[in-house]
Amino acid sequence: MESFMRNTFQFLGRSSFFKKYARKYGLQFGAKRFVAGESIDKAIRAVQRLNQEGKQATLDHLGEFVRNEQEAIEAAQQCIQTLQVIAASGIQSNLSLKMTSLGLDISKELCVRNMRSILTCARELGNFVRIDMEDFSHCQVSLDIYEELRLDYDNVGIVIQAYLFRSEADIQALNMLNANLRLVKGAYKESPKVSYPEKKQVDDNFRKIIKQHLGNGNYTAIATHDAAIIAEMKSFIHENDISYDQFEFQMLYGISEELQQQLVKEGYRVRIYVPFGEDWFGYFMRRLAERPANVWFVLKNIRK
Ligand code: FDA
Repeated sequence: MESFMRNTFQFLGRSSFFKKYARKYGLQFGAKRFVAGESIDKAIRAVQRLNQEGKQATLDHLGEFVRNEQEAIEAAQQCIQTLQVIAASGIQSNLSLKMTSLGLDISKELCVRNMRSILTCARELGNFVRIDMEDFSHCQVSLDIYEELRLDYDNVGIVIQAYLFRSEADIQALNMLNANLRLVKGAYKESPKVSYPEKKQVDDNFRKIIKQHLGNGNYTAIATHDAAIIAEMKSFIHENDISYDQFEFQMLYGISEELQQQLVKEGYRVRIYVPFGEDWFGYFMRRLAERPANVWFVLKNIRK
C-alpha cells in the first residue's frame, strides 16, 4: 500500500495537468506546511522567523523543467533577484537551485552560462549557491558541470544521494575538489539497476558516506530528519574531534521542527531548506511520497 501511494505521488508530481490545476488554485490542501509562500516577500518573512529561532536558511525558488531558452534565462534572473533580496533584507540565507530550471535539458552550455551569472552575482554579494541533485538521468551531467564550475568558483556546492550505488565513488572523486556537499538519502523514484531498493541499505550507505566525507575533512551538510542517524553522527563528530565549522545539519521547512530546535539548543549549525514560488506542486508531491502519513495531514486541511 505504502509503495503504491509513493508511486502515485511521484507520478502526480511529474504530471503537467495536475501542476497546472494546482497552480490555478494556489497554495492549498496542506501545501502551506511545506512551502513558505508563492511570493518572495512571504519567503523572506519565513526566513526572518527561522533566523530569530537561531536557524539559517537556504531559499529555493521552485521550478523544474523549462521548455525553452527564454524560460531558462528568466529562471536564472529569478535566482539573481533572490540573491539580491537576501542581501538587501539582511537575512541569513544562501540559495539552492535545480539545474533543469536553468535549461539543463535544452543544452549544457545554456545551463553553464546561467550558472556562471548566478555564481558571479552570489560571489559579489558574499553568498553561496547549492545545486540540488535531481533524478539519476541528470546525475552525471550535473557532476560534470559542478566540476567545471568549481575550478572558477569557491561558493558552489552540490548534493549526493545515498540511494545511488555510485555515491561512494562520487564522493571519493569530489574529494579532489574539496567539495562542499549536502548529503541526502534521495527523493526520486529510481531503478534498482542504479539504486538500493531497501530502505535499510539506503540508511546504511547514508551513514557510510557522511562519515566518509567528514573523515576526508570536507564541509558536510547532513540533510536528514532521521533522529537515529543524527544521533549517530553527533557521536562520530565528537569521537573524531570534528570542528563544528566543518558541518551543519539541514532539514526541510515544516518538517521535524522540534528536532531542529533541539539541535540549535545544543549549539549545532542548523539550516532550513525554504522553498517558495508558484511552481510548488512537484515539490509538494515529493514530500507526500516520502511519507504517506502526510496524506492524513492534507485531508484534515481539506475538511477545514
Ligand atoms: P526518512 O525518510 O527515513 O525519514 C526519517 C524521519 O523524518 C521520518 O520518520 C519522519 O519522522 C521524518 N520525515 C521525513 N520525511 C518527511 C516528510 N516528507 N514529512 C514529514 N516527516 C518526514 N533529495 C534529493 O534527491 N535531492 C536533493 O537535492 C535534496 N535536497 C534536500 C535538502 C534538504 C535540506 C533535505 C532535508 C532533504 C533533501 N532531499 C533531497 C530529500 C531527501 O533525499 C529525503 O527524501 C528526505 O530528506 C527524507 O529522508 P530523511 O533523511 O528525512 O529520512
